[in-house]
Amino acid sequence: MRDIVLAWLADNVPASRLQHILGVEQMAYQMAHHYQLDVSKAAQAGLMHDLAKYFKPNQLWEMAVSEGLPLDPVDEKNPHLLHADVSAIVARDRFGVEDEEILQAIANHTLGRPGMSLLSCIIYIADTIEPTRGDTPELEALRQLCWQDLYKTVWFTSDYSLKYLLDKRCLIHPRTIITRNWAMEMASKKLQTTDSSIKVF
Ligand SMILES: [Fe+2]
Ligand SMILES: [Fe+2]
Repeated sequence: MRDIVLAWLADNVPASRLQHILGVEQMAYQMAHHYQLDVSKAAQAGLMHDLAKYFKPNQLWEMAVSEGLPLDPVDEKNPHLLHADVSAIVARDRFGVEDEEILQAIANHTLGRPGMSLLSCIIYIADTIEPTRGDTPELEALRQLCWQDLYKTVWFTSDYSLKYLLDKRCLIHPRTIITRNWAMEMASKKLQTTDSSIKVF
């Protein structure tokens, strides 16, 4: 299965993107191992997370509409954001992936989703911090944090994305914000149960 997906990727994404995809696959595998999750599911989701990255905006939009996905006005203005959901559709329809957790992890890799699984958290984080993304202090801090607390890393990864979008004066999809608020709440709950003397708010 991996070889079939790699052959398809070689024809559908540039070499630089393939390096990113392999970085996400490897990082997801390592994080899943660290948190005692299913490493093969993590690697599969990592390998297939950007299948639709280079689909044209109208193709992304049409596939999302025919799938009946709930769409936000920001999706209409920037259909590229739909490449995550559409990659899950390609994984299911072209490569026969049936595991709902893998499909959700692919679909959630760009915007996250409140209540998402730990596997989704791992792919969301790995997409931002895998080695080819650079070595800024912010990324290095996230790379340290990801071995300690997944929810806190999702929270800080969302903050990192939001800062980038604000700096670039881009539209912000509401899901990035609600994912960030959810992860912050999950991280603070964990803190309160492990040490009642710590107050984060
Ligand atoms: Fe992506
Ligand atoms: Fe990606």
